Amino acid sequence: MSDEPGTPSRTGSTAGSPAAAAAGSSHTTAAVIPAAGRGVRLGPGAPKALRTLNGTPMLVHAVRAMAGSRAVSLVVVVAPPDGAAEVEALLAEHSWPPGTELLVVPGGDTRQESVRLGIGVLPESVTAVLVHDAARPLVPVDTVDAVIAAVRNGAPAVVPAVPLADTVKQVEPQSGGGPEPVVATPERALLRAVQTPQGFDRALLARAHATVTHDVTDDASMVEQLGVRVVVVPGHEEAFKVTRPLDLVLAEAVLARRRINDGF
Ligand code: CTP
Ligand code: MG
Repeated sequence: MSDEPGTPSRTGSTAGSPAAAAAGSSHTTAAVIPAAGRGVRLGPGAPKALRTLNGTPMLVHAVRAMAGSRAVSLVVVVAPPDGAAEVEALLAEHSWPPGTELLVVPGGDTRQESVRLGIGVLPESVTAVLVHDAARPLVPVDTVDAVIAAVRNGAPAVVPAVPLADTVKQVEPQSGGGPEPVVATPERALLRAVQTPQGFDRALLARAHATVTHDVTDDASMVEQLGVRVVVVPGHEEAFKVTRPLDLVLAEAVLARRRINDGF
């Protein structure tokens, strides 16, 4: 195990075979979880992915959601650059579905770079990749499965998305902080808020990350820039991104509601 950039460390049920994720691996669908962000908008504290929801770190919830899909047998967690050992120890404290392999790799300065580092350790055998933000810890497994099904049915790039509740205005930002003039009001019915996991043909995602170098906020937009069509499947309200402090309140409320509904 090592904290050297790009050196993955392994944990999970196949930890006994260190070469499992390299040559000879049989994984076909993998999830890459960028979890290397600081969480500046959440305020001071541990890196966002390690902050807890009802006592359990967000990252553990997110890994559970990916590993909970029967199709996903490999989960690559992209840890804060100096926190790979800590993340690995955290994941080793939990139990995972049999046959799930977890890899931990240190991340980079941007989300894009972190995803690229995660993609870089995927074994040859992987043909479909999910990219899922650790900051969306409560995505239901059904949503994960819907994305995988669409990729497996031939869509090269798939995003889960939901209609918008708010009307959206395009503005002209003002450097002095003055009132921003409204430039346009896109028709709300044509807009979608996109979530993760986003699902991709592995070769296409690798090509997108090798080609697009300027800043983007999601992986699908890189694929769009290659001229490849991205399709939408229904997202879920519980797949919202934990970004600001109020989102923590909502996430803990969702978990409490699940516990009541599940009867434990
Ligand atoms: N991420 C990452 N590496 C980075 C930056 C972000 O892996 N250098 C990950 C985050 O950990 C998160 C996901 O990308 O799971 C989405 O990013 P965001 O919600 O913006 O998280 P942060 O960047 O941590 O938050 P903030 O922008 O408020 O600092
Ligand atoms: Mg960020």
